[in-house]
Amino acid sequence: MKIICAENDREVGRYAAKYIAEVIRERPNALLGLATGSTPMTTYSELVRMYREGEISFAGARTVNLDEYVGLSPEHSQSYARFMRENLFDHIDIRAENCHIPGGLAKDPIAECKAYDDLLDRLGRVDIQLLGIGHNGHIAFNEPGEHFTKDTTLVELTESTVSANSRFFNSRDLVPTRAISMGIGRILKARKILLLAIGQSKAEILARALLGDVTPSVPASILQFYQGELTVIADRKALSRILEK
Ligand code: F6R
Repeated sequence: MKIICAENDREVGRYAAKYIAEVIRERPNALLGLATGSTPMTTYSELVRMYREGEISFAGARTVNLDEYVGLSPEHSQSYARFMRENLFDHIDIRAENCHIPGGLAKDPIAECKAYDDLLDRLGRVDIQLLGIGHNGHIAFNEPGEHFTKDTTLVELTESTVSANSRFFNSRDLVPTRAISMGIGRILKARKILLLAIGQSKAEILARALLGDVTPSVPASILQFYQGELTVIADRKALSRILEK
């Protein structure tokens, strides 16, 4: 595991975008595993800047997102499909048909999970997977529990996740309580993983995930057993507990 300490969120984005750009330059049809939320926003704005300045092209790249809320259409202002379009896809030369996100409006979410796994099998190995970490240690929407999930699953979001996500909705009642999430077994198949964390509020959980026991009650702790190339890029605040230890 390599840990990179950045000074601030912009620098986290610059380092992460550099890693992703290297993967695309080596493999123009790279399969990128993407995340949503606040953490990757500076990474996406840096990738957009690199594209605009002619440093990188996504023309051959393909993407798979980690998760989507159940019940939100791709047009809904808080859907992850919309987030990805607004923060990345609409500003680069990626082909829409190469971008994949679980269908939040699927009539049968369990069948949608199976269809997403079939898609992942067809697309092959993710070249680089971007991850954030929840305050409860979740990765994607794999919440703390009794076992590590393997395949894509229909998840009941915990109170803490619903509360954390309510900042994006007009009222807490509007926050979806279910999501479709890529399973941890699938995430660990990626060739490379970039785990990003920004801010003091992530310091404790990041230390538990990377230095504590490997346990499904801290889903991100499984990354300690990951066999590929794991790079953690975090700002000084998010790394503060690790630096103390
Ligand atoms: C989102 C995702 C989540 C977030 C996590 C952190 O696609 O997979 O695991 O990475 O909830 O969210 P932020 O970045 O908003 O703190």
